[in-house]
Amino acid sequence: MRAASGRAALRPAPYGPTDVWSYNGSVPGPEIRVRQGDRIRILARNGLDEDTTIHWHGIRTPNAMDGVPFLTQDPIPVGGDFLYEFDALDAGTFWYHPHQRSVEQVGRGLYGPLIVDEADPIRVDRDLTWMLDDWRMTRDGQISADFGNRRDAMHGGRIGNSVTINGQIPERIAVRSGERIRLRLVNAANARIFGLDFGDLVPVVVALDGQPVTPHAPDSGIVVIGPAMRVDLVIDMTGKPGDVITVIDAFYEGLEYRLVDLAYGPDRLRDSVPDWSMDLPPNPLADPDMTSPARHRIVFNGGMMGQTMMGGGMGSMMDQMREGNMWFINGKAATGQMMDPLLVLPQGTSQVFEMNNRTAWHHPIHFHGHSFRVIARNGQPTRYREWQDTVLMAPEERVEIAFVADNPGDWMFHCHILEHQAAGMMGVIRVDPRATKT
Ligand code: C2O
Ligand code: CU
Repeated sequence: MRAASGRAALRPAPYGPTDVWSYNGSVPGPEIRVRQGDRIRILARNGLDEDTTIHWHGIRTPNAMDGVPFLTQDPIPVGGDFLYEFDALDAGTFWYHPHQRSVEQVGRGLYGPLIVDEADPIRVDRDLTWMLDDWRMTRDGQISADFGNRRDAMHGGRIGNSVTINGQIPERIAVRSGERIRLRLVNAANARIFGLDFGDLVPVVVALDGQPVTPHAPDSGIVVIGPAMRVDLVIDMTGKPGDVITVIDAFYEGLEYRLVDLAYGPDRLRDSVPDWSMDLPPNPLADPDMTSPARHRIVFNGGMMGQTMMGGGMGSMMDQMREGNMWFINGKAATGQMMDPLLVLPQGTSQVFEMNNRTAWHHPIHFHGHSFRVIARNGQPTRYREWQDTVLMAPEERVEIAFVADNPGDWMFHCHILEHQAAGMMGVIRVDPRATKT
């Protein structure tokens, strides 16, 4: 797979192509699709003018294959290559992207889907993937070059003005009356959170971040998906031939817009909703032992209108802000390439993180190398104890996650709003095979 600059037809004709950075010349990059248990081997080549890496988001790889520059590998130099090789332990919807200067590399189009099929998938008529992205385009249809600016970093990140599905600003997508679709949503945007409203359709959430969940309707009927997150939906197309359903993104109040129309063709596939099971088989994840897990408090601070800004921050945070760092985990903004671990977890132990978002912003918090259960929000147990690798925290929200620290190595723990990550909102968590349980 070769990362290089190229062009892509993000906008419909008659507009011309946009200059992008992409894998193998396409946005998104090639779909990697394997069966659960398969071994994946990818030779990554760097055709960019700067260093890069590839991170396999949500895949539980060995640490050396995780694609984090300096932490798990040397960056791939210009013209160089790196062989990634790992087993697809979990079935589900995953994706890949660089972990080097991600703000710009992902923001210019370097990402793609990685789908691991179950040995025995649930029955559907069509299995579709929508990789959502949000671009900041100039009036001449090129990508605005203002990556990494301070304003984006202090607020909600780089929110753009042009949303694509699979690399195209979509008009309409054809569906058939009566068909059942598995729709795999992947949010590849730097910063935009989506809240999809499917109108009269009733989407059922069957997996989150690749991991099966008890099939359920999304809260208020809106499918919320923060940066880097995935949601697998099963949707029965219950409309009549000729109908049109408008999918609306309603996440930001007052800024709702039409994402795409689903247009029913003239024929009908079936008359009633099929009674096929929507239960995906579980993946081989170790369940945390909740009798006496180790507990850690993790506090997120910073940003515009946060406590730190209002003068409630500790002096050290104020000093760090003067140096251009705007987001903090337990009072520290990560800078540079080498980071001391925030936490050292003995391998094999059950862990609970009590996370507290003391900011005025949403943050999708991602942990590498593991999936975790989201067990509580604001002190209330969650209904489905869903497995995730990226959990969206609302402003001032408290979220508890639980997992077994079973994958040894140094793992990134960061906000996936890429501008927040770059402005300090990251850290390293070490899963130590030698540490003894205390
Ligand atoms: Cu999707 Cu640290 O990455
Ligand atoms: Cu954030």
